Amino acid sequence: MGTSQGRTVYATSRNPLTNLAGIPSEQRLQFDLEQPSTWGNIPASADLTWCFPATPLEQVQAFARTLDAPAQRLVVLGSTSAYDAPSQSTEYPPPWTDESSPIDLTKSRVQGEEFLRTNCGAIILRVAGIYGPGRNPLDWIRSGRVGPSRKYVNLIHAEDLASICLLALGKGKPGEAYNVSDGTPRTWKEIYATAQQRWGVATAVVKEDGSTGKRISTAKLRAELGYILKYPDLYEALAMIESTDRV
Ligand SMILES: NC(=O)c1ccc[n+]([C@@H]2O[C@H](COP(=O)([O-])OP(=O)(O)OC[C@H]3O[C@@H](n4cnc5c(N)ncnc54)[C@H](OP(=O)(O)O)[C@@H]3O)[C@@H](O)[C@H]2O)c1
Repeated sequence: MGTSQGRTVYATSRNPLTNLAGIPSEQRLQFDLEQPSTWGNIPASADLTWCFPATPLEQVQAFARTLDAPAQRLVVLGSTSAYDAPSQSTEYPPPWTDESSPIDLTKSRVQGEEFLRTNCGAIILRVAGIYGPGRNPLDWIRSGRVGPSRKYVNLIHAEDLASICLLALGKGKPGEAYNVSDGTPRTWKEIYATAQQRWGVATAVVKEDGSTGKRISTAKLRAELGYILKYPDLYEALAMIESTDRV
């Protein structure tokens, strides 16, 4: 049985045969939030890392009733888009966003996360853009998905996020939210210029984006979970991804 830091780890999928083919069969579980018949596949008292949007609310609430919270620890991956409220300031550079900044409760996934946080002691990770092998920001530039705008972006390497999930399961405070990013907001303009200089990235035609973006503060994550990033430097990480993704 697979272990990580002394834990037995299972992975779930709606279609484990296809999507979890790469891991040992005894570690695969079928689970679909939309299919209550699959909920019992999760071992009783297992701690959970919830890796997809916690929506729709009624299903989230029904599933939550099957949990033994707070004995079962629950980490939920949210998104920093929770802070994208219509009333967001147009100040530039944008002010730092910490966990006390307003969140948009009209968003269905934010409602699900807040339900789990306040009723089940879930630890909510408000996650920045995830990058890593197969999720290469330089490809987003190549394809024209992003351009050299003044918009701030916050990123976190997938491996750091995985480690932070485990750390939050172990020592996160139930009912708390933590912002998760590498702590260095950058403008797309800066990333774009470096991509051109260092990797000769050619770009497709891009749409103008005048939005300010956000600058996500990770002070709480650092102070309370004390995680040391494996990939603190975006450009060093991109160099590694370029060398592996392009072989
Ligand atoms: N990607 C980003 O840049 C980013 C940024 C901020 C936050 N986040 C959040 O971080 C989490 C992980 O992101 P990701 O990009 O890795 O997501 P992802 O690639 O979409 O993976 C989520 C997986 O969850 C499973 N899933 C989806 N709906 C489900 C349901 N109803 N019941 C059970 N399983 C379900 C799916 O696996 P199967 O198809 O195998 O069932 C899906 O592949 C998500 O909550 C996402 O919103 C992502």
